[in-house]
Amino acid sequence: MANKRFPEGFLWGGATAANQLEGAYNEGGKGLSVQDVTPKGGANVDGEVLITKEPTEDNLKLKGIDFYHRYKEDIALFAEMGFKVFRISIAWSRIFPKGDELEPNEEGLKFYDNLFDEMAKYGIEPLVTLSHYETPLHLAREYNGWTNRKLIEFFERYARTVFERYKDKVKYWLTFNEINSVLHAPFMSGGISTDGEVKPTKQELYQAVHNELVASALVTKVGHEINPDFKIGCMILSMPAYPMTSHPLDTLAAREFERENYLFADVHVRGKYPAYARRYFKENNINIEFAEDDEKLLAENPVDFVSFSYYVSVAAAHNPQDYQSGKGNLLGGLKNPYLEASEWGWQVDPVGLRIVLNDFYDRYQIPLFIVENGLGAKDVLVDGPNGPTVEDDYRIDYLRRHLEQVREAIKDGVEVMGYTSWGCIDLVSASTAQMSKRYGYIYVDRNDDGTGSLKRYKKKSFDWYKKVIASNGENL
Ligand code: BG6
Repeated sequence: MANKRFPEGFLWGGATAANQLEGAYNEGGKGLSVQDVTPKGGANVDGEVLITKEPTEDNLKLKGIDFYHRYKEDIALFAEMGFKVFRISIAWSRIFPKGDELEPNEEGLKFYDNLFDEMAKYGIEPLVTLSHYETPLHLAREYNGWTNRKLIEFFERYARTVFERYKDKVKYWLTFNEINSVLHAPFMSGGISTDGEVKPTKQELYQAVHNELVASALVTKVGHEINPDFKIGCMILSMPAYPMTSHPLDTLAAREFERENYLFADVHVRGKYPAYARRYFKENNINIEFAEDDEKLLAENPVDFVSFSYYVSVAAAHNPQDYQSGKGNLLGGLKNPYLEASEWGWQVDPVGLRIVLNDFYDRYQIPLFIVENGLGAKDVLVDGPNGPTVEDDYRIDYLRRHLEQVREAIKDGVEVMGYTSWGCIDLVSASTAQMSKRYGYIYVDRNDDGTGSLKRYKKKSFDWYKKVIASNGENL
């Protein structure tokens, strides 16, 4: 880069997920998803996730930010910021309400047709996640989610349906959001263990991992057959781990922490399980059941790019009990004494993003896409010259510092396709189901108790991001 501009065609935008913003949980023929029965969020709180029998009124996701009815207004705001791309997920249970039907729900398909058409009006490219923590509840309850190989068939039917339907409207696809999270948040991520009493075993969890990896390869194959121009990526929750000290065993602990995550990208890119995984499986008595064609399918259908979320880094040690644990995005790890943290204890580490980009690129040499990054903070609405606003300089600072590191990584030679910051419009948090954990450039008037007008207001970061995009990253 001769100057500070990002590469030509860089995809700037924002990211969301259906269950966190659409609302309308029981409209348009939609069936229930795992999110509709987890009113407190999907992360383990004291080892347990609250799972209710039926949807309960205190579950903010049921209404979300009512994007289902207000998407036109929201897309217009994204267009005003100059978005080139907008990441959404399709709610699987809008298309197949129970998950195991043979015929899709036309009303659900129509909703996304309308949404993509609206984006097309402004030249905004959709980036679509097929499965973002939204397994149909019926598949969780009847099949124990992704532990069951039957889900591969259901997922293929669903993916084929939406690929065929939107083949001329959508080019960029992601298979499973943060696929590695299934080991840590099995119900939210994989619809596993619905009664909350019996904890899934390692054997079950890694079988679920395998089933998802096979499903991911299968739909990558199907997608490329339907439209060879599709770009299909995997999506990994990235989290670099630093050795707590220079003790060699701490470095080993950090490597092991990272390998648990690399495993997922390794299979997606290289088409086979890495050697270290085989040792881990052996030592933990994990016997993954492979079907006859699995190896071939994995080998022949690598992804086109690797996408990832990045929020925090962690530290690792061989004697973790001697240190404080970090609070972060689902995966655990230790607190790093050199870093500050957000109000939710998520440690902020912009340089970690450059490290992640370099590590992935050194390992795979294929394009990378940062599809989530951002700061969850408690915003306060104040009066501004043009009406209510939020003076979110802290968010601008967070994003600027991260984008500076993306720029450095690009200078390092890393191929980065784009950047979609998380929750570009305020939405309901995945881990805690709060509205007050806000990430957006656009404030949505909704409170943790469910009250609020749902009106949208531009924050200070709205104009900042608009300027970033207009200058292609030159003016951060
Ligand atoms: C990622 C998820 O883990 O982090 C998103 O893909 C989520 O769905 C985001 O919202 C931020 O986490 P949280 O818990 O603050 O919403």
